Amino acid sequence: MDKAQILIASNRGPVSFSTTADGSLEHRRGGGGLVSGMISVATGIDSLWVCAALSDSDRRAAGEAPGARLDRTHDLGGMSVHMLDIPADVLTGAYTDVSNSTLWFVQHMMYDTPNKPSFGSRFREQWGHYRAYNEAFADALVAGAAVNARVAVQDLHLALVPHILRNRRPDLRIAHFSHTPWAPPEYFRMLPSRVARELLEGMLGADHLGFLSPRWADAFLRCCAEILRADVDLERRTVEHGGRVIEVGVHALGADEDLLRESAAEPAVAERRRTLLDLVGDTRLIVRVDRTELSKNIVRGLEAYRELLTARPEWRGRVTHLAFAYPSRGDVPEYRAYTESVLRTAKEINEEFATAEWTPVILEVDDDYPRSLASFQLADVLLVNPIRDGMNLVAKEGPVLSERDCALVLSREAGAADELGDAALLVDPYDTLDTAEALHTALTMPEEERRKRRERLAEAAVALPPRRWFEDQLRSLG
Ligand code: G6P
Repeated sequence: MDKAQILIASNRGPVSFSTTADGSLEHRRGGGGLVSGMISVATGIDSLWVCAALSDSDRRAAGEAPGARLDRTHDLGGMSVHMLDIPADVLTGAYTDVSNSTLWFVQHMMYDTPNKPSFGSRFREQWGHYRAYNEAFADALVAGAAVNARVAVQDLHLALVPHILRNRRPDLRIAHFSHTPWAPPEYFRMLPSRVARELLEGMLGADHLGFLSPRWADAFLRCCAEILRADVDLERRTVEHGGRVIEVGVHALGADEDLLRESAAEPAVAERRRTLLDLVGDTRLIVRVDRTELSKNIVRGLEAYRELLTARPEWRGRVTHLAFAYPSRGDVPEYRAYTESVLRTAKEINEEFATAEWTPVILEVDDDYPRSLASFQLADVLLVNPIRDGMNLVAKEGPVLSERDCALVLSREAGAADELGDAALLVDPYDTLDTAEALHTALTMPEEERRKRRERLAEAAVALPPRRWFEDQLRSLG
């Protein structure tokens, strides 16, 4: 087996498996721009993507080639994949409990702090699983990396990997990229102090740390200064730690325009578009597309729409809210409860305002990518109102595909607001009345202004497409 020059490590890999009716395994490449961007850079170079087996079919695929790489497949452009078959209790502790139920909540500042979190012996056990999971990734990377290889570690699931790798393979050049926001030290400190230190020191094993927004990079630097007492240069964005200088960079991931246009040209998108138009008639459209995710603030988005219909009755019967939410993280109880409250709120609005001819909210909680693309094409207004978000690519993808010069109502707490803020209508995500007013402003904006703003949004959205975003990170490793 050749050793790889470029390695990527992420919890969710570029490919997933399912079992067909006759019992054989079928694989599907991840659809997002990130996967295609990373694969296109690594094509033609010995490269390896290490990820976790996340389903029974994934585990079967990993088990059929134990400890080995899955075959290089045509649609992975020559990149090998090593899917780790991690014991179920370790995966649950690391992914569901620590990453999704704890670190995600900390970085998005989502805790209802008088009640949660509470870090007892159960958490200590989960943290042990998180360590073991990070060790398993490090083992695979150590075994698969050529001398002096470059390793790009992704996201909050794998914060300890850089430190472990540096100890075991000092020849490697290591980057870590955070896809979430980063909480300020006042909030981050709520983690048990040993855990907080271990996370920061784990990441500082890298040569280069990447973030999506200057706000998250600076919050990380402040955590290093306050919690580790590390020597931090806020101006140059560097941390001195363990006798090394670690660079912190901002790489604002953008939309993949080519891939988006290619996907939007599929016949399935035209078909969904016809179905949507049949449903909504000639009403104006406020569109949102998210994972069913607490940080996306879907309930307050619906409340804002209710405020709009209440305060401005002239919109009743003339506007429809399309809310498409992909199911997400059903293993986490808070996500299941949140999905229920999203469904309940939409139902209440429909009960209050619907007429024989008009349904105010069309909400679907399922996975239909062609329908999302069709809704981007048709949107008059795109609503993206997260309470906190690393970047938010919907805010970037929507304006690229919009055919009606959509206006963007955007939370100032999304990383995307850094680049799109001038052309979007920025809102405070907690203020539903402010958001309702912004929806009204968006719906009544003169055509010429909408066109100009939409052009600026689309231009800013594609400034750093995934391929270049990844190249930037590799370049920062020399
Ligand atoms: C966020 C994370 C990504 C992750 C995605 C889906 O955007 O930053 O790394 O892939 O959510 O989450 P999931 O838990 O389904 O992998």
